[in-house]
Parts: sequence; C-alpha cells; structure tokens
Amino acid sequence: MWESFAGGTTLITGASAGIGAEFARQLAAGKRDLILVARRQEKLEALAEELRAKHGVQVECLAADLATETGLAKVCEAVASDTVVGLVNNAGHGKLGAFAECPLEQASGQMDLNVKASMHLAHAAARAFTKRRHGVIVNLASVAAFYPVPYFGIYGLTKAFMKNFSLVLSEELRGTGVRSVAVCPGFTKTEFFSQAGMSGTTLSERMAMPVETCVRLALRAIDNKKDLVVTGIQNQILAFLARLLSHNLQLKIGKVIAQKGMMEG
Ligand SMILES: NC(=O)c1ccc[n+]([C@@H]2O[C@H](COP(=O)([O-])OP(=O)(O)OC[C@H]3O[C@@H](n4cnc5c(N)ncnc54)[C@H](OP(=O)(O)O)[C@@H]3O)[C@@H](O)[C@H]2O)c1
Repeated sequence: MWESFAGGTTLITGASAGIGAEFARQLAAGKRDLILVARRQEKLEALAEELRAKHGVQVECLAADLATETGLAKVCEAVASDTVVGLVNNAGHGKLGAFAECPLEQASGQMDLNVKASMHLAHAAARAFTKRRHGVIVNLASVAAFYPVPYFGIYGLTKAFMKNFSLVLSEELRGTGVRSVAVCPGFTKTEFFSQAGMSGTTLSERMAMPVETCVRLALRAIDNKKDLVVTGIQNQILAFLARLLSHNLQLKIGKVIAQKGMMEG
C-alpha cells in the first residue's frame, strides 16, 4: 500500500494535527517510516509513540517552526538526507479578515509558512530525490486555489501558488523518477477553522469532509500517478465551476463563503 512512498522515509510537515497527522496515520498503516515536523513537540511525540506501537514503523520527530530561518534550514537538511523518499509539504495556515485591517506581519507570516517554507522544502527534496531518481513531493493546496476569496485573499493566493508551483514542478520533473502532486482539499474537519478565526460550527460542519476521507482520496490519487487531486465530488464541482464563471461571479461566491465564516467566528 502507498507504493509511491516505498523505499525510504517520508517527511510530513504540520504533522501534529489535522491533515498532516492523518497522512502520518495512513502512511504508517501502510508500513512507511516517517519523520514528523511541527512546532508542538509533545503532540508529535504522542503521535509517534502511537504509530510505532500500532504499526511497528520507525517514526522520528523534528520540532521546528518553519516560519523561521533556523527551523526551515533544519528541516531542509532532514529532507535532503539519504533515506528520505517522500515529502508531504502540508504545514500551512490562514486567517480570515479584511486585508487593510489585518496586521502586515500576519499576512507575511502566511507567505513565510505557506509559500516560502514549502518552496524551500520542495527545492531540497527535488535536488536530493532527482540524484537518486526516486521520490514524491506532495504539496497541499486547496479548492481556494481556484477562486479569488475576499477576506481570505492572502491565504487563497498562497494556495494558488502551491497548486501552480506543484504542477510546474511535476512537468519539469517528468522522466526523472521523481513526482510532484498538488492536493486540493475543500473544507476538511481539522483545527484549521479555529486557527483561521472561524470558530463557529454550522458552515464548517455542514460542508466539511472527514480528514480520514480527505487523506485516503489524496493517497489513492498519488498512487494512481495523478499530478493534481481535488478531494471529493463536491470540491471537484467547485473547482470545475471556477473555470466556467466570470471573475465577478468567482469573487461573489468566495465572498459569501468567507463572510459566512466570519459571522460564525
Ligand atoms: N482543513 C481544511 O479545510 C483545509 C482545506 C484546504 C487546504 N488545507 C490545507 O491543508 C494543510 C493542513 O491544514 P489542516 O487543516 O490540517 O490545518 P491544522 O489542523 O490547523 O494543522 C496545521 C498544522 O501545521 C502546523 N504548523 C502551523 N504553523 C507552523 C509553523 N510555523 N511551523 C511548523 N508547523 C506549523 C501545525 O502544528 P504546530 O501548531 O504544532 O506547529 C499543524 O500541525 C494546510 O496547508 C491547509 O492550508 C486545509
């Protein structure tokens, strides 16, 4: 199971919660060794202990803040090590609110984590993996990559970057034995909503996919050699619709969803 990650260790960023932790659970169930990265060391250690006991796999923890130079350098070094064959570029965050009202550091923080750290890690992985002609780089984007979303604009932009960057990388890596895959979830049940300032329940609960389903669909698509996966039919319809709609309508849809989230938050 999960053949794309065979032959070595997979490093997962943002593995202390949500989608990253679930990637760790499902890859470990498929007997893949792991390196778990996030800031909350105790959460990583608890998950590592659970996975070693349940599946007999090797799990290492690497506590690091990817939005800092030292944290990022440490994780890039780990990605480039000889045993690593998989990178799940998953750590990311977003914050709802009007751009002019949000502190600039908050917007820059999203760029540092979602874009800069992901790009540095992908670079380290692409160089190391192509030398060995084997490996897979998974980049977490979002359905938000297909829409301009007022009040969630910087986040959406970072996810549009991740989608397009991943596709470009996939094409550049063709024939090298290394693959790049963009994963675009829609609303998924994780800590993401409360972190984003959307602490209400109705919108997220009505629309959200269980995290287990999201990751299972992503892993299946990765093994089926896809370079882009939008998880679930509802999200696929949203992504498809974006191609047919005018920018004006895309903005209106994005705005209604974000405003509903802000009212609930
Ligand atoms: N949930 C959704 O609806 C959804 C939809 C589309 C796309 N996504 C994308 O999926 C990815 C995972 O989201 P999620 O829903 O699983 O979010 P989550 O539950 O909030 O988890 C985010 C993870 O990122 C880690 N993280 C945050 N800041 C970090 C930093 N500076 N350095 C290192 N790690 C950091 C967090 O761990 P620590 O706090 O311990 O550092 C946590 O493990 C994100 O890229 C997100 O944009 C999510």
